[in-house]
Amino acid sequence: MEQARRPESMARITTPALAQAFIDEQIAALRAQIGDKKVLLALSGGVDSSVVAALLIRAVGRQLVCVHVNHGLLRKGEPEQVIQVFRNEMDANLIYVDAVDRFLDQLAGVSDPEQKRKIIGKVFIDVFAEEAKKLDGISFLAQGTIYPDILESGPVKSHHNVGGLPPELDFELVEPVKFLYKDEVRVVGKALGLPDGMVYRQPFPGPGLGVRCVGAITRDRLEAVRESDAILREEFKKNGLEGKVWQYFTIVPDFKSTGITDGLRTYEWPVVIRAVNTVDAVTAEVAELDFKLMAHIVERITHEVKGVNRVLWDLTPKPTGTIEWE
Ligand code: XMP
Repeated sequence: MEQARRPESMARITTPALAQAFIDEQIAALRAQIGDKKVLLALSGGVDSSVVAALLIRAVGRQLVCVHVNHGLLRKGEPEQVIQVFRNEMDANLIYVDAVDRFLDQLAGVSDPEQKRKIIGKVFIDVFAEEAKKLDGISFLAQGTIYPDILESGPVKSHHNVGGLPPELDFELVEPVKFLYKDEVRVVGKALGLPDGMVYRQPFPGPGLGVRCVGAITRDRLEAVRESDAILREEFKKNGLEGKVWQYFTIVPDFKSTGITDGLRTYEWPVVIRAVNTVDAVTAEVAELDFKLMAHIVERITHEVKGVNRVLWDLTPKPTGTIEWE
């Protein structure tokens, strides 16, 4: 059994030099472990799996096979960024799987949040296992497990861990960042040359926008979540709030209200804006934001997002509200 605790002698990785030393050490260790064999990795584009991919590309190049599963619940531009960074810039061996219809068909009509999570987790494993089966000669499975995952819930990421891994994925594990805390993963990612948009990403749930399309997911309401989220992120970036506000996103609940556009009555969804600051996500406070900026965002969302006639701002701290609306 491998050691499951971070060695006490391990210094906290806080600087580019310490990150470089970690990278050099890991590259040597990965080459020793993997030799000339092949490694499989589910690459979501999140910080952890991206850092693992970049480390493995440095260590074993195209012996790494990355699989990016697009489940349709990613933010606007994310699948494109994964392809751009890993396939085009890093020359990764990347398989892109468009599984959008499969996920959304399975989720149709399902409104219970736990059930939605279960379906997303299960379909993810199914799709990934099917891809693994098509490949020859895989010996290892790489995972972006980080130290808090081990401390909190065991070594396999909980949102992917639906009743353990199927036999198609029963490979020896490669987990190069398993003793790192999140801030250290980011320092290492930066040193590996990953773009800031990937390294300093906000926390994002495994089931993605699925938890923000409250109730049963429909394609049109999901697009309203994705488009309004993109506008919010763009405006926060433009106004210097990226990296200053801990987490910000939009939610589209499953109800409609009356409105008026160009003199005609409408009956459409509201978009809810959530923007919070927190240290550990256990408690959170609402970010105090400039009212003029918020009014501008309301203007953009109501004019640019299809099916939306109203914007609400959630001013509830945690507790009593959770950060996400599931
Ligand atoms: P709540 O809504 O419980 O969320 O206040 C606390 C933080 O956890 C994030 N979150 C997740 N992160 N996988 C993740 O990696 C998940 O399944 C998941 N669900 C919630 C949430 O975005 C918030 O930052």
